[in-house]
Amino acid sequence: MAKKLLIKKERKTIVDDRLVLLSKFEKHLVDDAKDYSTQYGVIKKDDLKNDSVKVGKEEFTILNPSFIDNYKQIRRLAQIITLKDIGAIIANTGINKESIILDAGTGSGALACFLGVIAKKVVSYDIKDEHLAVARQNVNSLKLKNVQIKKGDIFDSKNVREKNIDVFILDVTEPWRGINTADKILKKGGFLVSYSPNINQVDLFVKSLSENFLYEKTVEIIEREWTVKGQVLRPQMKDFGHTAFLSFARKITK
Ligand SMILES: C[S@@+](CC[C@H](N)C(=O)[O-])C[C@H]1O[C@@H](n2cnc3c(N)ncnc32)[C@H](O)[C@@H]1O
Repeated sequence: MAKKLLIKKERKTIVDDRLVLLSKFEKHLVDDAKDYSTQYGVIKKDDLKNDSVKVGKEEFTILNPSFIDNYKQIRRLAQIITLKDIGAIIANTGINKESIILDAGTGSGALACFLGVIAKKVVSYDIKDEHLAVARQNVNSLKLKNVQIKKGDIFDSKNVREKNIDVFILDVTEPWRGINTADKILKKGGFLVSYSPNINQVDLFVKSLSENFLYEKTVEIIEREWTVKGQVLRPQMKDFGHTAFLSFARKITK
């Protein structure tokens, strides 16, 4: 299914020297093979071929969606990794078009899918059929041919056939139980990354690293969004959302 991204700026007017909002900013990812209904009227599928379209008093700019527009629409189970944390994993491990990645658990496949557009190959393991099904659906909707979703308990290294992995990412409740598998599958110099919301998980993970690993660091990425609108120039009021700690270690033996 081909898609188009419709964007509408907010529309304001001045009434009695006061700025009044007439309609809000909107963004819609739509199937370009069908007419699309908005609250202002219907946009005909033929009009989706143009650069913009008027519906009532509103004007939508029409764009071809990029990967990130489609990625933001994937199906989500409870907890998916955030963009700020994905960025830190990529930056600290140097993931690139030659990288072979292993990821567990798959969850909704959010991390696996994002890394799929950057890395050469991503293999992702989960134990739950429901999660595997959603992740496969997401991989297909993003048309990622290099992302493989597999069923298996990552804590038992016999379940994992892959070898010579560049980066192994653990997003599971007990990441320390995945260290033996990491030892078996990572290449010398490969990275083991653990993503855990609680510092006691980090503590146990780091204490459990064997002599075959060099512990590098644990970080928490804080993203602070600002409002930049008229006279309002300040950090947004919402809380600093803690997501998880990222711990990085490197395999130093063969
Ligand atoms: C928080 S989710 C992962 C989210 C994922 N990183 C994403 O971005 O969508 C954790 C997943 O780990 C899976 N899991 C837990 N223990 C596991 C194990 N031993 N082997 C493989 N997967 C496991 C769970 O079923 C769950 O789907």
